[in-house]
Amino acid sequence: MKGKVLFPGSRFKVRFLPFDVTVVVAPGTSLLDAVTQAGLPIKAGCGGGGTCGDCLLLIKSGSCRVRPSAAISENLRTQGYVLACLAEVSDNLTVHLPQFQEMSIQSITDSTFFREHRDEVSGCCGPVALPEIVSDVIPSATDKNIFGIACDVGTTTVVVQLVDLRIGKVLSTASGYNHQLKCGEDVVSRIHYAQKPERLLELNNLIVATINRLIQKCLESIHGIFLDIYFASVSGNTTMTYLLLNMNPLDIQKDPYASAMNRARFKTSRELGLKMNPEAVVLCAPVVGSYVGGDITAGLLCTPLLREAEKVSLFIDVGTNGELVMGNKDWMVTCACSAGPAFEGGGTKCGMPAASGAIERIQLNKGNIEYRVLGNGKPRGVCGSGLVDLLSALFVQGYVDRSGKLNKEKAGFRIADTERGEGFLIEEADRCYWEKDLVITENDIANLIRTKGAVFSACSLLLKNVGLTFKDLDAVYIAGGFGQYLNIENAVSIGLFPDIARDRFHYLGNSSLLGAFLILLSDKNRDLVNETAGKMTYIELNTEPDYMNEYTGSLFLPHTDMSLFPSVKRVFDNIEDKPLN
Ligand code: FES
Repeated sequence: MKGKVLFPGSRFKVRFLPFDVTVVVAPGTSLLDAVTQAGLPIKAGCGGGGTCGDCLLLIKSGSCRVRPSAAISENLRTQGYVLACLAEVSDNLTVHLPQFQEMSIQSITDSTFFREHRDEVSGCCGPVALPEIVSDVIPSATDKNIFGIACDVGTTTVVVQLVDLRIGKVLSTASGYNHQLKCGEDVVSRIHYAQKPERLLELNNLIVATINRLIQKCLESIHGIFLDIYFASVSGNTTMTYLLLNMNPLDIQKDPYASAMNRARFKTSRELGLKMNPEAVVLCAPVVGSYVGGDITAGLLCTPLLREAEKVSLFIDVGTNGELVMGNKDWMVTCACSAGPAFEGGGTKCGMPAASGAIERIQLNKGNIEYRVLGNGKPRGVCGSGLVDLLSALFVQGYVDRSGKLNKEKAGFRIADTERGEGFLIEEADRCYWEKDLVITENDIANLIRTKGAVFSACSLLLKNVGLTFKDLDAVYIAGGFGQYLNIENAVSIGLFPDIARDRFHYLGNSSLLGAFLILLSDKNRDLVNETAGKMTYIELNTEPDYMNEYTGSLFLPHTDMSLFPSVKRVFDNIEDKPLN
């Protein structure tokens, strides 16, 4: 405040990066309140008490009054970090939300399964058949570039691939946070936000701007020009698809949960405001229900499920909503469960998305923890695959009981106190990026159990609906943001996935993006995605009386009914000093 003269009623601007949102606040407003006013996501585990250290912000310019706290280290303080709840605005500020560092997003764009099966699922042999729907606008000269865009529009992140349509090759990839995040973290809050016409338009502009920026990035990396882009294939969940098309997504939530969009939509880039050749055609993959969107219909293209008549397969996409599809080329049933963001890093103290600094693999050996960090730096948190490893190790080695309660005697010095209750110490503060102990709390474990319970029970219910059992599944295809190191054995041992032969599980990677890419490659795939959407029977779990019973049974490790998990039972029976429950 030195040297600054404040006039009555003066107010300050606080600009938040990377979203470039500015709010105007009165002097003395806490930065935590300013972030909330800006509608941006921030963790605040102790509710603003200055003790959890969750609400770190980086001050890029300007100064603020900060109250001291032991929850932030001297080192971070000297780098310009403050705790938002203890910092009062006394100047114009530019502030960075450190959890949204653009360069840290890991974009999983591929998988071993996809590489091995590309010819089988791509629907085209040899040179790519240039899309018929853009045949009028594509230049005939063979020395001209003909580019396409495959785009996965996620609620949190967006990934764009620039594809040479003549040879079907990805030329560059760019990913970034969906700038709609400033209007709400999840689809439900964005649907509510969109209920005024000007706000619907704002959300539409934000997603268009996000995609355009990523197209620009892709083009820059190959010195390309946007006029050479003639076709785009976009896959996103139902809400994201509606918002890109500037359609009100509220109808998605209403009974009978029907969608107005169960066939692929074609628009021109001019209509959507996307930075491509103005005559370029944009195809949005069809959606099937409230929470079964184009990311799923496109994602199914990456699997043999749509091409096999005899076998029954299961496709699972574990995100904030778990989406499941079961069946084969003749029939398909689908549902979505509210899994919660625990495996995507939300709703847990130690969780984070699969980005640099995330622990993606963990092993526990006689109380010693070994882990691997994405990007090899100091750990910042644990992503989905690491959380699966950790929960499995804690369970099968007897550190937690079947209800997720810690065995404190066994955990010994690894029991740590946090503002969110007791937990198991993963790593000590001086070895962690945020210089705070990295701890998985009992609350975190409870959240993970609820998430895995929601997915497993949805899976059981789908099977029951069609009169099948887990044994009837020939293959399970796993999509989603787990990171590529999801350990199936561990996922089965916590009861996330069924206890069937492990070689039936296949990890797909970002199947939404891969599906969008396949749609670019052939007219056959474009027809197939429409056919698929038309064949899927959507089951709304909220109206299924049995779902709650299934879910309750799944709230144990691995399940209340151990006979469903014979291989896990064998391991569990051999645990020495296992906790009683
Ligand atoms: S919310 Fe700021 S330290 Fe906990």
